[in-house]
Amino acid sequence: MRKALRYLKPYWLSVLAVIALIFGQVQCELALPDYMSGIVTYGIQYGGITDTVPAALRLSTYEHMELFLSPENRTVLSDAYEQKPVGTSPEYPLNQSEPIYVLRNQTDPRQEALQKSFLITGMLENPEILKASGFSSSEQFYAAAADNPMLAEQIKAAAEEKTGQYTDDNLLGAVRILMKQEYAALGVNTERMQNRYILNEGMVMLLITLVGSLCAVGSSFLASRTATGACRTMRSDVFRRVESFSSEEFSRFSTASLITRTTNDIQQVQMVMTMLLRIVLFAPFMGLTSLFKVMRYGDMVWILSWVLLAIVILLLAAFVTTMPKFRIIQKLVDRLNLVIREQLSGILVIRAFINEETEEKRFDEANRDITRINIFVNRALATIMPAMTFLMSFISVLIIWFGSRQIDLGTMQIGDMMAFLQYAMHVLMSFMFIAMIFIMIPRSSVSARRIFEVLETEPAIVDPDQPETLPEGNQPIVFHDVSFRYPKAEEYVLKHISFEAKPGETVAFIGSTGSGKSTLVNLIPRFFDVTEGRITFGDIDIRSLKQKDLRERIGYIPQKAVLFSGTVESNLRYADENADEDRIRNALEVSQAAEFVDRMPNGIQEPIAQGGTNVSGGQKQRLSIARALTRNAQVYIFDDTFSALDYATDARLRSALDQMIQKTKSTVLIVAQRISTIRGADRIIVLDKGEITGMGTHDELMKTCSVYQEIAYSQLSQEELA
Ligand SMILES: Nc1ncnc2c1ncn2[C@@H]1O[C@H](COP(=O)(O)OP(=O)(O)OP(=O)(O)O)[C@@H](O)[C@H]1O
Ligand SMILES: [Mg+2]
Repeated sequence: MRKALRYLKPYWLSVLAVIALIFGQVQCELALPDYMSGIVTYGIQYGGITDTVPAALRLSTYEHMELFLSPENRTVLSDAYEQKPVGTSPEYPLNQSEPIYVLRNQTDPRQEALQKSFLITGMLENPEILKASGFSSSEQFYAAAADNPMLAEQIKAAAEEKTGQYTDDNLLGAVRILMKQEYAALGVNTERMQNRYILNEGMVMLLITLVGSLCAVGSSFLASRTATGACRTMRSDVFRRVESFSSEEFSRFSTASLITRTTNDIQQVQMVMTMLLRIVLFAPFMGLTSLFKVMRYGDMVWILSWVLLAIVILLLAAFVTTMPKFRIIQKLVDRLNLVIREQLSGILVIRAFINEETEEKRFDEANRDITRINIFVNRALATIMPAMTFLMSFISVLIIWFGSRQIDLGTMQIGDMMAFLQYAMHVLMSFMFIAMIFIMIPRSSVSARRIFEVLETEPAIVDPDQPETLPEGNQPIVFHDVSFRYPKAEEYVLKHISFEAKPGETVAFIGSTGSGKSTLVNLIPRFFDVTEGRITFGDIDIRSLKQKDLRERIGYIPQKAVLFSGTVESNLRYADENADEDRIRNALEVSQAAEFVDRMPNGIQEPIAQGGTNVSGGQKQRLSIARALTRNAQVYIFDDTFSALDYATDARLRSALDQMIQKTKSTVLIVAQRISTIRGADRIIVLDKGEITGMGTHDELMKTCSVYQEIAYSQLSQEELA
């Protein structure tokens, strides 16, 4: 997986942007619980009041407060407040009719004394408290206090005893509730004040949410784009590597597995990469910051740690049970692919031999295996969700249970408890995300390993470090004592082959099935490299040439014609994109494809289905020849290309080809089964079990080579032979 992450390198800028956006998102999301706590505590409980001392006082309140202040604290009061004459402070309607006191600054550090004296004056407005002290109204009390200074001291001491148990929060809470009464008495619309506070905070929350969502959307977008981009590069790398593979590597991996690796496996990696980019950064950010915020509520953190432990155990269990299965799943996908591919490409044979049932069974088996294991894995993972939900609800209950007790004791605010609840959820969620990654990473590293197996396989056939350049013009091809054995095979398929094919010459190969004809001609474009000996092209060993330079000069027609989906023209241009109309026309004429292409409704624009299934075998063969002829090649290799043609077409094709060769002086190598096809060749090479048993013209071989004679007698009538 680490190697796969290297593909992110070109996208480092996007990755950085994702990180920044995620950081923003986390910040936004974590700011919300604090705001919510504010709304609950200040907005709802304290009527939207955030001040710590009253912003304004009635004259009477000011005077009453003085009563409960020590002489030095009285100066604090007079420093803090300024008297406003009638009509100068329109925000307090009472000022229309009488002077009031307005706070100079909110940040005086000596506020505590003011808060306490304000609290006492406020409490003395409460009839029950008055009654308990033996007064029926506050006027009566203040009148008595004016006569007896000790009375104020007594009340102050009693109040201090009571408020001494208060926490700072509680004291402030009480002060704020009284403040609301004071503001109301000053004529302020306290309800509007509260609404304004809640609305303001709400708007800020909305804005933060909006920014957070934008960050989330942006980071998701960038993360997906980055991951898809990285995986696109990876896919094309895999594809390019696979293209460079020789048959040896293909048989090592199997085509089905190569397809799975390029599609499904890369998909897995891509999915995890997106998740990684999003979550791997998001979750720890979120988790740690929330944890940090949660630490403020020291008393209740233990709840969280127990639940976290439970989660870790739960996820570990899920991990251990599902992990080994992921490896198996990818293998099974390979097998399913193999079975499907084989069955779809062999569907006609399956039908012809009425083997649908066996094949269905084979498919069912592969299908069932993969289904079973997927169900198991999904069940295991599915249990995680309800368990997590349970744990979350459980922790909510715990927090509310213990939180409400603390609220009762006055050590916690309701809003704080709610914020704690939310932060705790964030911590849990991030833990879950991290755990999910731990489950996903091993799964995708199975895939990543499979991808890099392909990427790190060096193809057997490579270009030399310092390639030589082919001289211009037609060059001879010479086999120097070539022997060849397929990789991993024991037996040599070709033994001591030596011959020369000069420009303008036609060299033909004939021999029984399996004698090594295809193998021999496949050595020329370097589909395989010789095991011993060497092949030279214009006196240069073909292994010292670039594959491209070599293959550019070869027009190859494989034994099994392959066409690509597209049109007739696109298939011909496959040999040479820039071929002009004349070349294409000429290629069609020579290959005898023109007669049926012209009869097609769309001519050379006639669509060709995938694999060329909408033309006949012989037509496909002729188009395959036309394709090779479209290239202005110096060497044409026909691997048994004429056997799908009827005798007449075969003859016409060869004479047209001869004429063309006369002009271009190309070298032609023909593998054939029929003597008639190669009778006119300059040189015929007879292969038997990988060895040359005869070489020469038709007439020479008829005299000297018994293998050739046998083939000839079995095919030609006496008159033809004569
Ligand atoms: N990819 C391969 N791996 C291993 N052995 C192979 C491979 N391809 C062919 N062979 C073996 O090499 C031998 C020669 O095969 P080749 O295809 O060259 O025969 P051929 O002369 O072209 O036969 P045909 O006339 O049927 O086309 C055969 O015995 C075959 O089993
Ligand atoms: Mg062959």
